[in-house]
Amino acid sequence: MELQVSHSIFLEASMSSMIRFSTVTLVDSYVYLFPTTVTVTTSALYYLNHPDNITKLQKLREEVKAFGHELPTVSNLKNDMPLTDGVINETMRLAPIVGNVFYACKDDITFTFKEQQMQGPITFMLPFAHNYSDPQYYSNPNCFVPERWITGAPEEVSEKGRAAFKPFGMGRHLCLGYNLATLVMKSALYCFARDDTRVIEFDTVNVKPKADVFPAYSISNGFPGRVVVEKC
Ligand code: HEM
Repeated sequence: MELQVSHSIFLEASMSSMIRFSTVTLVDSYVYLFPTTVTVTTSALYYLNHPDNITKLQKLREEVKAFGHELPTVSNLKNDMPLTDGVINETMRLAPIVGNVFYACKDDITFTFKEQQMQGPITFMLPFAHNYSDPQYYSNPNCFVPERWITGAPEEVSEKGRAAFKPFGMGRHLCLGYNLATLVMKSALYCFARDDTRVIEFDTVNVKPKADVFPAYSISNGFPGRVVVEKC
């Protein structure tokens, strides 16, 4: 089925003269759900199955096994899977799908942003993802460390690092699909990790996070991984 691009998102804020337009064109939530969550989940599986991160996958399996034979409830998915949360955050830090968000102020007004006086009409871009590899926010920025997102963990990210992390945007236009996307990705990781014998073989030489416009980063095109079931 070919999906017709009917309109771009051009949402007007009611209380100010700020409008926000996205680099992403919205057709419907199906189109959003698919490339966003599938891309991030694929990238998460790439990092988890990378030979350098075997211990991370083991830890994830332990977290998932804590549910025993019971399927996790929505409440469990939201509150009781801190490492899975960390895996998703760490994936969106290393391979963010939205690198920046554009904002436009259409009126002739002045406002202050980060102690800087701005004069409308003006369009500006917040390149959130530029901070994600900055060692002043994230130690060992190129390493996959899901634990850094767990409160109280020795590797825990600083407040500055948490504040700089905006994979779903911010403010009144924070991603509307945030909760749904997180639940979908966590469910997918649960399904993968609950089976100890299941691994995904990636060609780690040729398959790498690849930069583009949207998704800003994705794991190389094509069919990058092969699910295998290891013999016990
Ligand atoms: C990993 C998954 C996703 C990521 C990383 C993501 C990221 C983003 C970002 C960065 C924005 C711009 C926020 C801003 O302007 O500050 C946004 C907006 C939006 N997203 Fe998502 N998104 C994801 C999944 C979804 C899904 C699954 C849906 C729908 C089911 C969705 C619906 C929307 C909508 C409607 C907006 C516009 C909100 C507004 O302007 O008020 N997103 N998203």
